[in-house]
Amino acid sequence: MEFGHYIDNARVAPTTGERIEVVDPSTGKSFATIARGNATDVQTAVWAAQRAMGDTLDGPWARLSPVDRSNLLFAYAAAVVKHGDELAQLEACDTGKALKTARADASVLARYLQYYAGCVDKLHGETLPYASGFTVLTIREPIGVTGHIIPWNYPMQIYGRSVGASLAAGNACVVKPAEDASLSVLRLAEIAAEVGFPSGTINIVTGFGGEAGAALSANQGISHISFTGSAVTGALVGRAAAERHCPAVLELGGKSPQLVFEDADLEQALPVIVNAIVQNAGQTCSAGSRLLVQRSIYEGVLERLIERFSSLRSGPPSIDLEMGPLVNAKQHARVRSIVEQAETEGIRIAARGQIHPEASHEGYYQQAVLFRDVPPQSQLAQEEVFGPVLAAMPFEDEAEAVKLANGTQYGLVAGVWTRDGARALRLARKLQAGQVFVNNYGAGGGVELPFGGVKASGYGREKGFEALLGFTALKTIAIKHD
Ligand code: NAI
Ligand code: MG
Repeated sequence: MEFGHYIDNARVAPTTGERIEVVDPSTGKSFATIARGNATDVQTAVWAAQRAMGDTLDGPWARLSPVDRSNLLFAYAAAVVKHGDELAQLEACDTGKALKTARADASVLARYLQYYAGCVDKLHGETLPYASGFTVLTIREPIGVTGHIIPWNYPMQIYGRSVGASLAAGNACVVKPAEDASLSVLRLAEIAAEVGFPSGTINIVTGFGGEAGAALSANQGISHISFTGSAVTGALVGRAAAERHCPAVLELGGKSPQLVFEDADLEQALPVIVNAIVQNAGQTCSAGSRLLVQRSIYEGVLERLIERFSSLRSGPPSIDLEMGPLVNAKQHARVRSIVEQAETEGIRIAARGQIHPEASHEGYYQQAVLFRDVPPQSQLAQEEVFGPVLAAMPFEDEAEAVKLANGTQYGLVAGVWTRDGARALRLARKLQAGQVFVNNYGAGGGVELPFGGVKASGYGREKGFEALLGFTALKTIAIKHD
């Protein structure tokens, strides 16, 4: 199978003819190739998107009425539901994620499209009280052509939240999916064409980050860029955008803490805490990768987690265990080296999960690992591992819990487990994070809930109505009539 780019509602071969192998992480074997895009391919896609917008919002996409745009997005959501199994299979082969996770991703994508479809005809400006003799109003216009650089961990969800919001605001999109996970995104662009999006509305250019991704962030025709990925690459994208005064939304991962107080409901907390680090084999920006437990219950909590971690299994997507393999050889080596380094530093492993006997030795499998008494300044406590590796550490009191929780460069999300309502509110305000969850973690996804980081976790907000506003340009019109 040879996949091309998808531009102007058609498959397009890469200008150089060069290709990238598509590897199944559960076997380490290549089963297809995608196009290795470059700046020329990106430019072709940007021109297609510009034609869909037109010079004065008179292109075939931009001139659609809000209700027509909304109906197309609803039809897109319905088509995603219809193709849910196919998309999930494709994603599982490409990324190694367990099928149930891939299926959930497809339904969340559909939900994003529905949510933003429902927003289109509620996105309006205001009239502003001003000096006598004036009428002043604001209108929310599309920004133009938006660029989307998508990582490999949740391609469908991230496509949904960023492309969905951008389309709802009336923009046309150029998407650069990750070189390790482009297949679902390519299929999604085809499905969009099938439901009737005009040519050029959604364009996909595949390729390496340093080539196609860098070309997209530097392209003069891109008026807004959304990026999800590492803090290092995020800085490159942000810099390229700043040089041409292009707004950017950067979502750069985290080292998110879960704080468990002695009055917490552990029956409720523990399964959620485990899921928050093993979901998608730990390759989740908002993974709960640090576990801070009040000392009086620390040993008891660890004992229960040891039992659970020892039974966690990694295996091929087809047998649908708690975890699939990691996405590629590079991530596999990276996670293993962080685990080995922590052991070398004398940090104790309290429990390890299992690798299923049916898992291929060539696959990128990583057991779940629970580390205990992790020193707060160690690499393990500070750096995003992006694997099923939980760093547990004790704290004495609320003040120490806050200090530890805020003591990394990141600030994406945080979880607080306590039955004391006043404490929950106090902590929710003191924690440096874009989202704080009390007695839950992630609120079940929450497409409606604004999401994004502080500090090195990035800036700008995705999801919810907030993200939609970010994809608009606000124009103020002042009319003097007296
Ligand atoms: P990355 O940040 O380099 O890749 C993410 C996306 O950016 C991919 O589509 C890639 O092609 C693109 N990209 C890479 N270099 C680029 C450049 N110079 N200009 C424009 N786009 C570029 O992340 P990578 O190397 O795949 O993973 C490394 C680490 O990043 C992971 O271990 C994890 O810690 C973090 N990460 C965080 C994610 C999140 O959800 N916040 C997602 C993926 C990775
Ligand atoms: Mg792959």
